[in-house]
Amino acid sequence: MYDLVVEDATIVSGWEPRRVADICVEHGRIVHVGDGASGAARARVSAAGKLVMPGVIDGHVHFRSPGHPHKEDWASGSRAAASGGVTTVLDMPNTNPPTLTRMEWEQKRALAAEHSRVNFGIWVGASAGRNDAINELMDSGDACGIKVFMGASTGPLLVDDDTLVRLFEQTRGLIGVHAEEESVLEVLRTRCSSVEAPNHNVVRPPVAATIAVRRLIELVEAHLRPVHICHLSTEAESDLVEAARGVDRRRLPITTEICPHHLYLSADLPAAFGRPLENGATTASGNWIKVNPPIRDDADRRAMWSAVQRQRIDTIGSDHAPHTMAEKALPYWSAPSGIPGVETTLPLLLTAVRQGRITLERVVQLCCEEPARVFGLKAKGAIREGHDADFVVLGEPDLRPLTSDDIVCRVAWSPFEGMPMVPKPDAVYVAGRLVASHGRIVDDDVRGSLTRPGA
Ligand code: DOR
Ligand code: ZN
Ligand code: ZN
Repeated sequence: MYDLVVEDATIVSGWEPRRVADICVEHGRIVHVGDGASGAARARVSAAGKLVMPGVIDGHVHFRSPGHPHKEDWASGSRAAASGGVTTVLDMPNTNPPTLTRMEWEQKRALAAEHSRVNFGIWVGASAGRNDAINELMDSGDACGIKVFMGASTGPLLVDDDTLVRLFEQTRGLIGVHAEEESVLEVLRTRCSSVEAPNHNVVRPPVAATIAVRRLIELVEAHLRPVHICHLSTEAESDLVEAARGVDRRRLPITTEICPHHLYLSADLPAAFGRPLENGATTASGNWIKVNPPIRDDADRRAMWSAVQRQRIDTIGSDHAPHTMAEKALPYWSAPSGIPGVETTLPLLLTAVRQGRITLERVVQLCCEEPARVFGLKAKGAIREGHDADFVVLGEPDLRPLTSDDIVCRVAWSPFEGMPMVPKPDAVYVAGRLVASHGRIVDDDVRGSLTRPGA
């Protein structure tokens, strides 16, 4: 007997035509896609006239737990994820303690297993002298990848070039990289230190990113290790990767991620939206959008859209990196970098679909199919027999400005407040259970499970 049949769904995938069918679920898996009328079912829901896409896999979140629950924890972060159509998150290691060893990884896994409303994977962080611990977590298939910070950002994780080379030589599996060259950042931090509120793009300029990406390409050429470059933000980085991958994009095992904030915010766009300031003006500038790598100029922002449209970017990840409003209100040098975003990724991309920038099929590629491929999540990313029953039902609501009431994550703000966008999805299912509807959590008892590469 089926646990659930979603009837008359218009199923969207990346490369196949849309198809109207019933989605039949048993024990958290999709067991049949076709005609579900004949089988007995515990529950039936109609998706007549609605689009159904696979749940979003966000390969890049900072859920802050253990260590910084005032910014986020697994319950609050995963509720935010579910509310926005994200059914799987991969959590970054710059927590406290950082996720560097089996013990720390298990500590985080225990928190996630107890509290996460969506499925989860856990990155292991790279640091000097830890390659054995990394290999143990990668070879067992437990960690979803090895995260490297080439430039210092939030938290203590940072590797120098020697450590990076040894990582390429001695470890196995996918390496995910925050690519900004620390020596460039160091010089500019010092040079700008007497300026009270410098331009973040001057302190962390595009060239820091391109130098790091160039170095990464050399290392991948030498070692042929799969590398996923996080948050590309400039045309120059995308050009370097494109040239290195060659015409068939397969010459080197490099894949790339882009974040919605680098598509929707720019340093020289006058603030059409953003948080209200005390004087009544609004701005998308200042420390609210202080993030690493920085929000770039508008030419780069538009170039990133082209890269997305031309299939030069593989995945979209939110880099959900929440800090409280009080922290973001501090002066430039004290305000932490990072912005929340796990719950606005899909609304923003569905808005782009409405605006004719990209197709819904392309959204499914970027947010579902490609992350599943890059991270080796074989039972995710598609609505197909044998796959996990993680999917999202979309209605056709009008665009409306995002308000603080829409925000579910703990810090309760978004750099996109005030921006007209497609509201959150009608229904979000994790392992065949309805978790969220129209942006609200409707079943807080659902728990996701650990997703492992290869499974
Ligand atoms: O802006 C950022 N914030 N960039 C990062 O690399 C880390 C993140 C965070 O954890 O706050
Ligand atoms: Zn980063
Ligand atoms: Zn990040």
